[in-house]
Amino acid sequence: MGLHEDIAEVLFDEATIRERVRQLAHEMERDYAGRDPVLVGMLRGSVYFLVDLTRALGIPHEVDFMAVAAYGTRHAATGAVRLLKDLDEEVTDRHVVLVEDVVDTGLTASYLVRLLRARRPASLAICTLLDKRARRIAPNLPLAYVGFEAPDRFVVGYGLDYRQRYRNLPYIGVLREEVFREGPP
Ligand code: IMP
Repeated sequence: MGLHEDIAEVLFDEATIRERVRQLAHEMERDYAGRDPVLVGMLRGSVYFLVDLTRALGIPHEVDFMAVAAYGTRHAATGAVRLLKDLDEEVTDRHVVLVEDVVDTGLTASYLVRLLRARRPASLAICTLLDKRARRIAPNLPLAYVGFEAPDRFVVGYGLDYRQRYRNLPYIGVLREEVFREGPP
């Protein structure tokens, strides 16, 4: 069975994503001109988005990565997050943009914001491809760039996975019920 057959509905197609990423890159070029920002990609979900964003970004910038693991599942979010991989470089006095695939409850982003702010960056902003605002628990996140508002549905593709699959789909879509019912993400 191919990956495409498991998708019930496409929410954001390839051309729509490409155009939106280009727009976000333009906004960042305007906001960060002359500031040499560091784009911090969250492994593994944001990698596809980050790579397209950085290629569209026509100002000097750096790229670094972090990885975290959340305790509990999506349906029993505890807010406890474990750092699996830290940044390779220092971010003190740097302009940091945290690049996320999706901000859902916001608990992961909130943990990362606290951790990064403790290092005294010159500024800190979040750029997320998807914003599931309806599910937000964490208040006051510095969400400066949002690709798309997403509904409260579990989506896959363009970096987002279900049990580590579907990340490579060029679009973002909803899984068919039968596939999703195989178990928790
Ligand atoms: P938060 O801490 O609840 O905001 O969770 C953010 C993380 O949950 C994301 O970085 C994703 O790894 C995961 N996540 C949330 N919603 C989805 C989804 O619809 N598809 C795939 N992963 C998701």
